[in-house]
Amino acid sequence: MNKLTEVKKTNRFMDWINYRYPWDAFMKKHLTEYYAPRNFNFWYYFGSFSLLVLVSQFISGIWLAMEYAPLGDTAFASVQHIMREVPFGWLIRFVHTTGASAFFIVVYLHMYRGLIYGSYKKPRELLWLFGMSIYLILLLEAFTGYVLPWGQMSYWGATVITSFASAIPYVGKTMLIWLRGDYSVSGVSLHRFFSLHVIAIPLLLVILVFLHLVALHHVGSNNPDGIEIKDKKGPDGIPKDGIPFHPYYTVKDLVGIAVFLLVFFTVVFFIPKLGGLFIEKDNFILANPFQTPEHIAPVWYMTPFYAILRAIPNKLMGLLAMAAAIGLMFVLPWLDRSKVRSVRYKGFWTKLAIVVFVICFIGLGYMGLQPVTPLRAFLAQVYTVGYFAFFLLMPVYTSLEKTKPLPEQLTE
Ligand code: HEM
Repeated sequence: MNKLTEVKKTNRFMDWINYRYPWDAFMKKHLTEYYAPRNFNFWYYFGSFSLLVLVSQFISGIWLAMEYAPLGDTAFASVQHIMREVPFGWLIRFVHTTGASAFFIVVYLHMYRGLIYGSYKKPRELLWLFGMSIYLILLLEAFTGYVLPWGQMSYWGATVITSFASAIPYVGKTMLIWLRGDYSVSGVSLHRFFSLHVIAIPLLLVILVFLHLVALHHVGSNNPDGIEIKDKKGPDGIPKDGIPFHPYYTVKDLVGIAVFLLVFFTVVFFIPKLGGLFIEKDNFILANPFQTPEHIAPVWYMTPFYAILRAIPNKLMGLLAMAAAIGLMFVLPWLDRSKVRSVRYKGFWTKLAIVVFVICFIGLGYMGLQPVTPLRAFLAQVYTVGYFAFFLLMPVYTSLEKTKPLPEQLTE
């Protein structure tokens, strides 16, 4: 067959498809004729990294579930079986455990990008809310997954976190039993967490990611300058500062993905436990309801909120503060009253507030990992105040500070 007939045949095949399914139209709308700002920088890698890790978690998770046995008296042993007897089981497990932490690293950086460039401001409020819902669901996914190996940390982590429910007045005690499915955390709780972890939550996650991306393509991407590229179009109707997503950003993302995978697999192969940060030491010991580990702390990505909870002496108030800490991130689009989006054009106070916020968030994360001492308890309280001040004072400093004039078009 010569080349010409080959090309014709391919086209006929695509014609057949396109007549029945809008393949070409979809590719045009979302890739080759989706015009993204031409000044995406380093911070714009983390959305595609999040997608990559999501897919990797699904694939490694499906394979783990083939050998994992979700009952109180089989779970721990089945994980040991995966690690020692299943060919490459150790690799699949470490890809999944490293993936969990990598997910939070890339999602936190992705959120930080949104924060500094004001990507949550009009018209991207829904995009942000879908993102925040993803984050909340991701925390639940990580928590339910952490229970599954049924080690000491799984057991006691589940005990501590579910016990939060008991602080709720009137219904707390009943809710606690309902959550655990038993009077204490047991194999029954493990089995229901398994069901949530492998079916209910991933399903929700996929739906939310879909909604997130639909919202993104409806309003278009923001950019480091925070100005709308759609406002300046050429005679052809194409934004002057826009470039087709494919091939420009698909190629850029592929380069980023290569670097990301290099770092990711360095951790998987050489330091999968990362000194107890990614997998805690106590989780290599079978769950024992009669022996509390010396120091119970959640995994690093939850510790900023855990530290806020501990910083407040009253259990119910601590819980409310923890919920408020996450809730405030949801309402960010309505707290920021600035005329401009990007930190590049905001004033001194926003810049200072972002520095304070980052210090407090990392400080809280660190405090949450450490056992409590009087000094650490005090520092956690200072960081908690800093964290809340960032959000609660935002309407004030963003509306009062002087902003820089916005450029007509993108600056780079
Ligand atoms: C599974 C998790 C997530 C996935 C797969 C995901 C995916 C993406 C992708 C592919 C993009 C476009 C590329 C980019 O701008 O980097 C994007 C944009 C965006 N995402 Fe996410 N995202 C996730 C979680 C979140 C979370 C937790 C938030 C924050 C609450 C968030 C907020 C945003 C915002 C505001 C944009 C637009 C940014 C801009 O245009 O400047 N996303 N997301």
